[in-house]
Order: sequence, then structure tokens, then C-alpha cells
Amino acid sequence: MPRRLLDLPRLLPAVLTAAIVVAGACAADDVPEVPVGPDGYPDPELVVGRQVYIDRCANCHGNDGGGGRGTKLSDARMVSVYPDVADQVVTVADGVRSMPAFVEVLDPEEIAAVVRYTREVL
Ligand code: HEC
Repeated sequence: MPRRLLDLPRLLPAVLTAAIVVAGACAADDVPEVPVGPDGYPDPELVVGRQVYIDRCANCHGNDGGGGRGTKLSDARMVSVYPDVADQVVTVADGVRSMPAFVEVLDPEEIAAVVRYTREVL
């Protein structure tokens, strides 16, 4: 019996592991980058906000904020839903229905940063 060139069943675990590693590495890449400002640097508060978004929000609201388990946040939706930014900060801090509260998990600066990120970048 000729030996098969690729023994797929035997390779499958390695292939799956590689796929998961690649997917994990790509996940953060899909989260929109903070644009560079006039001084040639991205706004540091928005950079913090993006990292908080990756760590705490993207799994429910989608990498691009387009929604998933959580509502869509992108396309300036947050600015129209919350004309007053303070109301959005309260929602993120206290949660609403199946949206978890973050007041115990994030400090106020992180909440302010991620809220800005959803309004200004997503
Ligand atoms: C476990 C999933 C989950 C995580 C994690 C999560 N959310 Fe949510 N979020 C939801 C759900 C579900 C809703 C809709 C709640 C409702 O109105 O019933 C929601 C609603 C919201 C809303 C209100 C949106 C609207 O349409 O009025 C905002 C703002 C929000 N989330 C921001 C965030 C931010 C910022 C983070 C990260 C710090 C985050 N969420 C993390 C599930 C999540």
C-alpha cells in the first residue's frame, strides 16, 4: 500500500491548533486602528480605549463594532443613541439587561477611553 503523502487524520490536531493560533492573532487586527492625528501620533486615550475594547467588548459587540451578542456600536450609532456622552458612560459602568456592568472591572479612565473609542473610531 503506497504511503499517503499527507496523513490528514494524524495532522488534524496540529492543523486545528495552527488555525486557532492564526485566528487569535488576527482577531485584534480586525479591530479598527486609531487614526494618526495631525501631530503624527494616534490619540493615546483612544489607543487605551481600543485595547480595552479588544479585551472586554469585542467578543460580544464584534471586532468592528458591527454587533453580535451585543448591539451594533459602530457607524457613529453611539453618538446618535447617546447625544450626551455621560449617558453612555453610565450604560457601560452599570450595564443594562444582558450587558454586563464594568464599574468593578475597569477604572473610570478606561471606561471613558473605551466610550470615546466607540464614538470616535468605530
Ligand atoms: C457579554 C457580552 C457583552 C460584553 C462583554 C459587552 N457588552 Fe455591551 N451589550 C451587550 C448586550 C447584550 C447589549 C444590549 C443590552 C440590551 O439593551 O438589552 C449591550 C449594550 C451595550 C450598549 C448600549 C448600546 C445601545 O444600543 O444602546 C453599549 C454602549 C455597550 N453595550 C458598550 C459596551 C462596551 C464599551 C463594552 C466593553 C467595555 C461592552 N459593551 C461589553 C453585551 C455585551
